[in-house]
Amino acid sequence: MRVHRAVALSSLVLSAFACSSSKGTPAPPTVVTFPAKFLWGTATAAFQVEKGDLHTDWAHWVATPGKIKNGDLPDVGGPDALAHVDDDIAALRSTSQNAYRFSIEWGRMYPTRAAFDADTPDPVAVAAYDDLLQKLHAAGITPMVTLHHFAFPDWLDDITQPMQPQGWERPETLGLFTEWCRRIAKRWGGRVDWWATINEPLVNAVLGYVQGGSPPGVVLDVNRALDVVKAEAIAHARAFDAIHQADTIDADGDGHAAWVSVAKHQRTFHPLDPTDADDAAATTHLAYIWNQWFLNAIVRGDWDDNLDGNLTTAGDRTADPSLKGRVDYIGVNYYSDTLVSAHRGLVLPVINLAIIQDHLPTDRPKTDVAWDIYPEGFGAVLDEAASYGMPIVVTENGLADGADANRARFVAEHLFQLGLAIGRGADVRGYFHWALMDNFEWSSGFCPKFGFFSVDPVTAARKARPSAATYKGIITSSRVQQSDIDALPPYAPPNACN
Ligand code: FCB
Repeated sequence: MRVHRAVALSSLVLSAFACSSSKGTPAPPTVVTFPAKFLWGTATAAFQVEKGDLHTDWAHWVATPGKIKNGDLPDVGGPDALAHVDDDIAALRSTSQNAYRFSIEWGRMYPTRAAFDADTPDPVAVAAYDDLLQKLHAAGITPMVTLHHFAFPDWLDDITQPMQPQGWERPETLGLFTEWCRRIAKRWGGRVDWWATINEPLVNAVLGYVQGGSPPGVVLDVNRALDVVKAEAIAHARAFDAIHQADTIDADGDGHAAWVSVAKHQRTFHPLDPTDADDAAATTHLAYIWNQWFLNAIVRGDWDDNLDGNLTTAGDRTADPSLKGRVDYIGVNYYSDTLVSAHRGLVLPVINLAIIQDHLPTDRPKTDVAWDIYPEGFGAVLDEAASYGMPIVVTENGLADGADANRARFVAEHLFQLGLAIGRGADVRGYFHWALMDNFEWSSGFCPKFGFFSVDPVTAARKARPSAATYKGIITSSRVQQSDIDALPPYAPPNACN
C-alpha cells in the first residue's frame, strides 16, 4: 500500500497537467518548479548519528539516569554514521540528492582543552571527516557543514555545575569557538563552501536554560537563556569573519568560497485565544523575539538589548559594524506552529507569556511528537525570511513518522509551499529535509523516526522508506503538482512518541 502510493506520486510528478480556476479570481498555481542548481538534500547532526562522541556535554547528559526517554543511548542502536559513510552516500545517491548537511563535532576533534590549545586534533576524527568529505566529493554531493549543533566539548560545559556559567555563557567560549571555526574552515574549506555556524541558537538556549531537557539543564531561567542567545549572536559574527578569512577556496566554482549563516529555527505564532488582546500582544512579541531578533542583529547589526522590539532604549544600537552583514544566506529550519498565551499555561518570567508547541488544540494533523503539520506556515516563514533580501536555504524541515504514513504528503505539501514562496520572490537556493536516516532525537531518544531511511538497531543497515521515492520523484522532476498531492492519501493519525 505504502510502496504503491510513493511510486504513484513519483510518476504523477512527471506527467504535468494544467488546472483552471472555476472562479473569476486568478487561479492559484497548480504546479511549482524549482531553480536549476537547487540544493536537494537531507540533514543530520554529529551527536545524533555518530557513535562515541564521548567528550561532549551530551555524552554526560545521556549517561545521567532519567534524562533520556527509555534510557536510550546514542551509541546503542544508532546509525553510527562515521562507520557507515558508504551506506549513507549510497542512500543519498539512490534518492538523487545532490547535497548533505552534517556537523563536525568539536569534542570529537579536540577531546581535551589541552589538545585544543596545542591544536593537536584527534587523528582518527580527522581521518573520519576527511573520508566523508572526500566520498561526498567523489559522489558529486555538495556538503553543508554545521560547526555547533547543540553539543559542546565537555571541557566547555560541565553538566554537574548548572548554576555556574556554562557553554556560551563562559567568557572564553567566544574566542575558542571563533578559533574552532577558523581551523575547520581552513582545514576543509577546499571541500566545503556551505557553512552553518550555530544550529538553532534560540532552541538550544530554551532547551538548556528554560525547559531544562538539555545541558546544562537549567530550568526556567529566562534571563540566562537570553544572555546565551546574545552570546551566540556575537559568536556567530566572529565566526563568520573567521570562516571567510580561512576559507578562500571556491570548491564548487559558483564564485563564492564560503556561504556562511546560522540554521535558524523559524516558526509561525498564533494567539491561544484570538479574541484576547493580551494573547495577541504576547504573540507579536514572541514572534519578534523568536523569528527576528537574532536575524536583525546579524543581518542589519540591529542590537535590541532588552528585546522589546524598540531600538531606542539604553544599550540598543543600530547598524553595529561588528555584527552587521554577517550572513551570506538565511538558513531556515521550519517544523511547526506555536500558540501563545499571556494567561494560560506556564507563563514564563521576564517575557511574561506561555509558549505552547505540542498537542496544539487545532484540527491540524499531528506528527509522532505531537507537532502540528502546517505547510502554509512554511510559506509564511519563507516570506518573512525573504524580507531580509538575501538568498535562503532551508536547512531543516521534517517530521517524526515511524509508520511513514504521512511523510510523502508532508514533503510534497511543504515543497509545494516552498515553490509558491519562490514564485512570490523568495530566493530559495536549497532544501535539506531532516533527516537522512533515523537518529537519536536528543531527550526523546530513538523513539521519534525522522528518517527517509530507517536504521536497523543491530546491524545499522539503512532501508529506504517508501516516502524516499516521493522525495526522489520531486528532485528528479524538479516540480510538485497539486494534483500529485491530491492523489496521496489523507494524513493518518500519529503513533504517539513524545
Ligand atoms: C531540530 C534540531 C535537530 C532535530 C530536529 C528534529 O530542532 O535542529 O537536531 O532534533 O529538530
